Amino acid sequence: MSVAANPGNGKITVPELLQRKSLAADSSSKKIISLTAYDYPTARLADEAGVEVILVGDSLGMVVLGYDSTLPVTLDEMLHHTRAVRRGTRRSLVVADMPYGSYHAGIGESVHNAVRFVKEAGAEAVKVEGGERRLELITRLTEAEIPVMGHVGLTPQSVNALGGYRVQGKTTDAAEQLLRDARAVEAAGAFAVVLEAVPRELAAQITRDLRIPTIGIGAGPDCDGQILVLHDMLGLTFGPTPKFARQYANIGEAISKAMHAYCEDVRRGGFPSDAESYHSGQTVKPQKPIHIAC
Ligand code: KIV
Repeated sequence: MSVAANPGNGKITVPELLQRKSLAADSSSKKIISLTAYDYPTARLADEAGVEVILVGDSLGMVVLGYDSTLPVTLDEMLHHTRAVRRGTRRSLVVADMPYGSYHAGIGESVHNAVRFVKEAGAEAVKVEGGERRLELITRLTEAEIPVMGHVGLTPQSVNALGGYRVQGKTTDAAEQLLRDARAVEAAGAFAVVLEAVPRELAAQITRDLRIPTIGIGAGPDCDGQILVLHDMLGLTFGPTPKFARQYANIGEAISKAMHAYCEDVRRGGFPSDAESYHSGQTVKPQKPIHIAC
């Protein structure tokens, strides 16, 4: 199931990502390429395409399971999808998002839940949302040998507290708080931090300030890496997408066209054809009717 983190075999590891940041001033330093995936085929395609960090995001709840927010996603759902992603991955680093409620009721239970992602699902790191208020949790997880990715800025699990999905850090006070949050995540021992929906200038400042890599989503081009939600970039969502979510394909339209064509073929008797049917070696003799004595 797992691939040993063996330097030289192309496997992406946490130390390698950290080292890349330390070489950031060097012109040969490369951006970190990250994408979400939720199942075996998409993980496999992402891995083979060169995606370096696959996040099994709790965005799963919205783009795959059809919930209105990420809040209802359960630990069992995340474990199930992380296992599938792990099976499709050889080279990428697999990071599992801890869902809402799985790290909010106490440190012991949170560490226990994070360990399940590593032991039962093959995750190589976990992601938790929040800055300063996650200091103790991130410290305890890293002490338990679990690499942690932080997530600050727009944190979708706080949608009720934030009052909606909005760009964060726009005022001076909010920007200063966001910088403190990012620094706290780093100080606690996280190996990377996602910056979501943050003004480009602030994301650039945080990126310069931190020793760990920043991975941006709606945070401009100056972060150390970029991440997108797979279904946004494939055109496989049903509502409007945020302006940063560049669409690289229209898979939704391609699937819809294929399904319409299949419906039409079955309706008019055009599927299956004779060539798509099995044939028996000999003609089947009509069976004698069975008479059941009353
Ligand atoms: O759940 C998710 O997909 C995420 C990314 C947007 C970073 O947290």
